Amino acid sequence: MEKKYRIVTYGCQMNVHESEKLAGILHARGYAEAAPEEEADIVVFNTCCIRENAENHAYGNIGALKKVKKAHPGMLIAVGGCMTQQAGAAEKLRKKFPFVDIVFGTHNLEEFGALLDRKLGRKKAVVDVWEKEGEVREEDISFRTSYPNAWVNIMYGCNNFCSYCIVPYVRGRERSRAASAVVAEVNGLLDAGYKEITLLGQNVNSYGNDCGEVSFPQLLRKICARDEKFRLRFMTSNPKDFGEELVRTIADNPQLCRFVHLPVQAGSDRILRLMNRKYTAKEYLEKVEMLRRIIPDCQLSTDIMVGFPTETEEDFRATLDLVRAADFSAAFTFVYSRRSGTVAADMEGQIPEEVQKERIMRLVELVNAQTREKSQAYRGKTIEILCEDYDAKKGLYLGRDEYGRMGYFASGRDRIGQFVQMRVTDASGISLQGEISEG
Ligand code: SAH
Ligand code: SF4
Ligand code: F3S
Repeated sequence: MEKKYRIVTYGCQMNVHESEKLAGILHARGYAEAAPEEEADIVVFNTCCIRENAENHAYGNIGALKKVKKAHPGMLIAVGGCMTQQAGAAEKLRKKFPFVDIVFGTHNLEEFGALLDRKLGRKKAVVDVWEKEGEVREEDISFRTSYPNAWVNIMYGCNNFCSYCIVPYVRGRERSRAASAVVAEVNGLLDAGYKEITLLGQNVNSYGNDCGEVSFPQLLRKICARDEKFRLRFMTSNPKDFGEELVRTIADNPQLCRFVHLPVQAGSDRILRLMNRKYTAKEYLEKVEMLRRIIPDCQLSTDIMVGFPTETEEDFRATLDLVRAADFSAAFTFVYSRRSGTVAADMEGQIPEEVQKERIMRLVELVNAQTREKSQAYRGKTIEILCEDYDAKKGLYLGRDEYGRMGYFASGRDRIGQFVQMRVTDASGISLQGEISEG
């Protein structure tokens, strides 16, 4: 009988894409995807440790599998990703969950097949977390599940060491892929019919700094040289390195979405300095202004954190002021989470949970009000949606516009993978509803 796998993913888009690589490795070994966990011969947890709740979530779900495994003795459980890459995490995990069969880290994720083979040949668990980065792999081993969208790594790791952030410790130093390999992968995906490509890196602006061959804007231009309709996005751009050449590249190339994710984190210069972000609120807003001057219809999204050590009410109000001034279309909001091993974890003045909660509520209220306001602007407009799925419950197709806004519409034909013109009929919620002409 065919063997089945299930992959449980936590964390960012990079991890979602890395789960596609794990799926590719499993498919190459003859495994097929299982619907419920109980049917799986192997369950792989691809974990995240960016905040404490991401870790708790994974710990809870791994723990819950103990019973399932007891009822299905042949089942294998593997845990990998950012959580296991932390110093001492593998031992902790094995102690807490002795029924886990394979533990791997971020640096040897692409070696997962070999670890699985090793485990299948013996009873003892296989624990292998590399301390150092492996070499950059250029071949595309992914089993993709997100048609018509596809993710492509352009670089791995992070050199920035923002004081709150665990990523540089669990993802290692910046390593860029060869531009020729990135362009070839994107071209292959476009040839296969993919319509939206998202380039991934923790700070895409430093692409190429480690090999000096091609800069990020140059890479974008190489990809856009292909003269056909598709959408190109990238994540994430660090404001400290966000410059005019990149903005001009977006302006010059219609495939590049007029939508930039530019995480600001905070609006107080004192906090930004403690965070080691290397820009001030004023500098950030000047970049936003430059972006809007060159591309007036460009929209912005961001990440914001509240409750960083020593944050005062005044600091927090500076964040609210910045959110008002920058006029974001979307913002991901987080409560600061103390990550052991980071510089901020040892700072004096950790903020009590009640204060953090009160601040995040105020911030979310402001962000939601801005998002609703942005929805109003869609009323009566016709927008271009890239259809990505069918919602059987609603009986509607869905997709996103250039700005990432979700739109639902009815159609008598399969529309997945097509660009459609949708006239917005309802813009009262965060997602839009509309009509397309079937002609
Ligand atoms: N490389 C990206 C961010 C990746 S992490 C960048 O620099 O913009 C995604 C978001 O998680 C960050 O932007 C930040 O807002 C949030 N984050 C990171 N560490 C965190 C922590 N310790 N507590 C709470 N939020 C955190
Ligand atoms: Fe973390 Fe900063 Fe690197 Fe982003 S740039 S991954 S926030 S250290
Ligand atoms: Fe992503 Fe979480 Fe790792 S946000 S890089 S999966 S710590």
